[in-house]
Amino acid sequence: MALRSRKRDNKNDQAGLIRKQIGTRSIVLIGLMGAGKTAIGRRLANRLGLEFVDADNEIEIAAGKSISDIFAEHGESQFRRGEEKVIARLLKCGPQVLATGGGAYMSEATRANIGEQGVAVWLKGSLDVLMGRVKRRDHRPLLKTDDPEAVMKRLMDERYPVYAGADITVESRDVAHDIIVGEIISALAGRKQPSGARKKTPRRSAQQAGTTRK
Ligand code: S3P
Repeated sequence: MALRSRKRDNKNDQAGLIRKQIGTRSIVLIGLMGAGKTAIGRRLANRLGLEFVDADNEIEIAAGKSISDIFAEHGESQFRRGEEKVIARLLKCGPQVLATGGGAYMSEATRANIGEQGVAVWLKGSLDVLMGRVKRRDHRPLLKTDDPEAVMKRLMDERYPVYAGADITVESRDVAHDIIVGEIISALAGRKQPSGARKKTPRRSAQQAGTTRK
């Protein structure tokens, strides 16, 4: 068999294995602003043959206004209440790849729902990488301040210990999206099965790829 078609078959096998493994659960991308949850999530869904859903987008549809307007007109706490509700609803619609806003995983209720109905994948970015990306756009209400870098630093301090509870961690960095997607797929394929049956994956390859699994 030609090498290229063998590679394609392997990719299809892996996607099928992951779909089987997750059943009706969602693959939920978490991480700070600029981690690439939407861009990576879209490609991941495409590779796995799953639907892609962006929670922020769904919140905007449900509210009939942009996230900036929700923050400005109703405040952050109302946004958080809506975010919890929308994510709880979306999690009932798996299997799918679900990208969440940076603050979503900080809600205990949302973490519990993801724990039951999803697999959490943390896209972990360094301050430099994240700042390099968020600077290019100005639609994020939390960063509309004189010192967005200080805000990001504070959020990293507050949120990284919580994000660390994710099932899988992949380092988000400035490489081709397909590389990150490949690392998520390898980590998902090598995950501990709920039944306890574990697919053997050499530890070294997970470390080399910059991923960790739980
Ligand atoms: C937020 C992140 C945003 C959006 C909102 C609040 C946060 O989503 O949900 O502006 O608290 O970090 P992204 O992480 O997709 O930018």
